[in-house]
Amino acid sequence: MSVLIAPSILSADFAALGTAIAAVERGGADLIHVDVMDGHFVPNITIGPPVVASIKRIAKVPLDVHLMIEEPDRYIDAFAEAGASMLSVHVEVLPHLHRTVHAIKALGVRAGVVLNPSTPVGALEEIAADVDYVLVMSVNPGFGGQSFIPRSEPKVRAVRALLDRAGNAAPVEIDGGIDRTNVARVVSAGASIIVAGSAVFHTPDPELATRELKAAASGAAIPVPRPARDVPS
Ligand code: DX5
Ligand code: ZN
Repeated sequence: MSVLIAPSILSADFAALGTAIAAVERGGADLIHVDVMDGHFVPNITIGPPVVASIKRIAKVPLDVHLMIEEPDRYIDAFAEAGASMLSVHVEVLPHLHRTVHAIKALGVRAGVVLNPSTPVGALEEIAADVDYVLVMSVNPGFGGQSFIPRSEPKVRAVRALLDRAGNAAPVEIDGGIDRTNVARVVSAGASIIVAGSAVFHTPDPELATRELKAAASGAAIPVPRPARDVPS
């Protein structure tokens, strides 16, 4: 399975989102990851549907919208209308997760379910067959630039195994503290959508950073065969 790179614009300059998105698209970004925060579920506030609609007008690649909000059911229609191709919701805020996942799908949007670092993989047990992707948070959500939580690597492996047991080939996405030094490990564990904010936008050249992250991720996913001359005879 090929690995998709989803730069998170949370770490970009919000006054120049068009420039930031164009740069990462030149670098090979497959998706644009959009972090929506409400100041209740997470201790930060970002953007809502109007900004997503503006981004949609200029982005060439699909928008992967991560809802870190309470009562996401109230806003699903608005984000779908604004142009989200993927919408993910946190299990921690949803007593009726099955209903929400199917409501997202009914809008023609791919439905993702997100687990916070402290949320057990077992929370997915009854929904694993229904999801279009699972997002494993590898930091506590709310801010860019935090350190990767090492426990997330076996967690990706466990989510991948759970989806496989459910007969669902849906991808596992990982979000938080990913950079060129750890991306290969999480890809090897089974992640195939990679979110990266500060590792892309807090660099002098986001286009190059995207390209390098993608190379590091793809190298892990598709091992290069050893040349025949290296094989001992
Ligand atoms: C964190 C957000 C992430 C964030 C990742 O709550 O969900 O998408 O932008 O930023 P980095 O890659 O800097 O950890
Ligand atoms: Zn995110």
